[in-house]
Amino acid sequence: MSAQPVERTSTPVLELRDLAVHFGGVRAVDGVSMKLMPGLIYGIIGPNGSGKSTLLGAITRLTRMTRGELLFDGASYAHVPPSRLARLRVARTFQMVRLLPDLNVRANIQIGADSRTTSDDRTGSRPSWFERLRGPAVSPAVVDAIRRTRLGGFESYYPSELSYGTQRRVEVARALAMDPRLLLLDEPTAGMNQSERAEISGLLRDLRDEGLTQLLVEHDVQMMMDTCDYVFAMNSGQLIAEGEPGEVVRNPAVQEAYLGRKWGRDA
Ligand SMILES: Nc1ncnc2c1ncn2[C@@H]1O[C@H](COP(=O)(O)OP(=O)(O)OP(=O)(O)O)[C@@H](O)[C@H]1O
Ligand SMILES: [Mg+2]
Repeated sequence: MSAQPVERTSTPVLELRDLAVHFGGVRAVDGVSMKLMPGLIYGIIGPNGSGKSTLLGAITRLTRMTRGELLFDGASYAHVPPSRLARLRVARTFQMVRLLPDLNVRANIQIGADSRTTSDDRTGSRPSWFERLRGPAVSPAVVDAIRRTRLGGFESYYPSELSYGTQRRVEVARALAMDPRLLLLDEPTAGMNQSERAEISGLLRDLRDEGLTQLLVEHDVQMMMDTCDYVFAMNSGQLIAEGEPGEVVRNPAVQEAYLGRKWGRDA
């Protein structure tokens, strides 16, 4: 296994120690330890059912963990409720699109911006009569997220009016509007064509260059090679390899895990 391309002395943004999530007899995640250093894009690959989404669920506290430790910036957050993760500035997108169907694109993205301040924030000031008359303000974070995900022109559309690929971009925009320090993305390019995928890869790399730490789950091996600085491979809930992307993809244990399955989007 190769060393991570960063100084070992800095504190990881995220650290998992011996994390396990068991559903009855199913060991969906079974003793995973990892460190994500600041400002890098990490990837997770692995065949269907290997535990990738469950791992993201445990990191975001939506899925109850069976054992292990979660640290953000070196401090345990294993008991922080999911509603307060936005305060830690951990944002995620879901494998299945989760947009609110009755809200337009702008309002869906605004939810991301609002989640940093509204979730159990009892100290926030109330809007003035002028602000109430004017209606809800669009935050600069929302405008910026729309620009970065190239959703300009789609602001008034409702999710049902958008292609699947565009809906996924709205999910990414909503997560960005939270101004995250750690962004977790579960198959953000599923349903996208090659050029849309390349665009998302470029966006994630731009965000990385601005210092955002990311953990990306994707089946598209080429996308992972083009995008990630460091890759973890999972199989049956466990890490079977980690390191530089090309090295992990060539690893015999990883090849074996995918044996009989197609490498790529439909793996
Ligand atoms: N809520 C649940 N209850 C019971 N079993 C579950 C639950 N969620 C996931 N599993 C099981 O845990 C294992 C890991 O599932 P998970 O969705 O994390 O895999 P994945 O790597 O994300 O797969 P995919 O690539 O298909 O998205 C699977 O065997 C799955 O059936
Ligand atoms: Mg999954």
